[in-house]
Amino acid sequence: MSDHCNELITEIMSRRRFLQQAGLISGGLGVGIFGSLASPRAVLAVCDPPGSPGTPQKWRMDCRPIQTRRPASTLNSQEIQKLKDAYQAMRALDTSDPNDPRGFQRQANVHCWYCGHGAQVHGSWNFFAWHRAYLYFHERILGNLVGDMDFRLPYWDWDASAHRKIPGAYTSPNDASNPLWNGTRAMSPTDEVPDEDVGQAVMEAALTAGTFADFGGTATSSGIPEGVPHGSVHVDVGGDMGAFDTAGRDPIFYAHHSNVDKIWSDWNKASSTHTDPTDSSFLNLTWNFYDENKVWRSITAAQVLDHEHQLRYVYGPSTFLSLLPCLINWIDIRPEWSLGRALKMTELIQNRLVQTLDKGGGVRLRIRDMSVPVDKSAVYRIYANPEAARADEGPGGNGYLGTFTVVLNSLSDKHEHERGKFKESSTRNVTINASKPIVESLLRTPKRLELTYIERGATKGAAQPAPVKAKEIYFSIAEVTKEM
Ligand code: C2O
Repeated sequence: MSDHCNELITEIMSRRRFLQQAGLISGGLGVGIFGSLASPRAVLAVCDPPGSPGTPQKWRMDCRPIQTRRPASTLNSQEIQKLKDAYQAMRALDTSDPNDPRGFQRQANVHCWYCGHGAQVHGSWNFFAWHRAYLYFHERILGNLVGDMDFRLPYWDWDASAHRKIPGAYTSPNDASNPLWNGTRAMSPTDEVPDEDVGQAVMEAALTAGTFADFGGTATSSGIPEGVPHGSVHVDVGGDMGAFDTAGRDPIFYAHHSNVDKIWSDWNKASSTHTDPTDSSFLNLTWNFYDENKVWRSITAAQVLDHEHQLRYVYGPSTFLSLLPCLINWIDIRPEWSLGRALKMTELIQNRLVQTLDKGGGVRLRIRDMSVPVDKSAVYRIYANPEAARADEGPGGNGYLGTFTVVLNSLSDKHEHERGKFKESSTRNVTINASKPIVESLLRTPKRLELTYIERGATKGAAQPAPVKAKEIYFSIAEVTKEM
């Protein structure tokens, strides 16, 4: 490692220690509901599934009519009212019978339990399938509470550039009289999720992922969209949404995840080669949920793969699917690189990247097992070199490559030690859609790349650039196929 890097690291470490001593870097996004005085035991109890449910009954089938989950922005006033009534009824159960597993707080606790207290469904191929199952039972409960089993959750289509604000139903009125409101959000009703987090570059990288491992992860690693856009939207909304322990307490969580679920559905549709894993270790993943009749049920990953026929819902059309290039034959090309050294961009590699893009193909920059800071939930920007990171011009600016996101399980370290083996992982796989402008910006910088990241949105000077440290840095490229 160069002296420069060593210096940088020492600088960051001492900076971090200073901030810790000054009490400046715990939390950051509002205070969790448990506050800092609650003991970890209390936290564990509140995230626990209620009572002793005993042996679950197997979920078998659903033969309700197939209905469409629609963008929240397209609901008419009656549909919005029904959505509000459903959450109102769910919240009412919290007081009328705190032990009813269908109550809103209990529903939120399911997510908490599965995010590191009783199990961990983030950071692996559990992610898409588990959240689909969770939303399915949640949706059935909401439907039951308003006497309409044809009720389907709406989705927040933040990938559509006109829908970057939190959908109106969830912010209007923007107070406790609205059962879809949450007072901890950092995002105001007029704020927008930045294009950097959910725009075309991000969506393309997700929807063109060549394998399920890349898209949805493996037994031990997460896929591309789990970090960006999924995690970024958590950070952007902030407050309860900014950590997995509390995220389920914001009704927007369920509309956010409905869109995340739609991305899985769209990825499946994007190509005949986009198939889900067939290993039994994936298909037999089993989770338990209470249904709308308070029956404790088990459901497997295999039972949620075909949402249309098994779970009885479909999604509206996707703007991106019709725009996507049909990419095939992803191959990896590895510039000379070793830990702590710059990436060597030879002429040959530069030409491959440029030619691929000129022919309409795809280029992705990939960083495997990158060490990331886990002291807060945040979005970080990656730049081609330390100077560009320091200047931090953002998307389109000098040396800008893309982002990665860290969402903590909990905003308070105090909860972490209860989790034992479910500790926060401090590495991530990061994939960046290296579009034409990005590759050009890579090639404009010196032939040797020293990838550097910096926290986004920190007050000027508070965030220091840090060198990217990872197991591997390389490119994946794919041709575009003309045979449709
Ligand atoms: Cu289970 Cu969006 O998190």
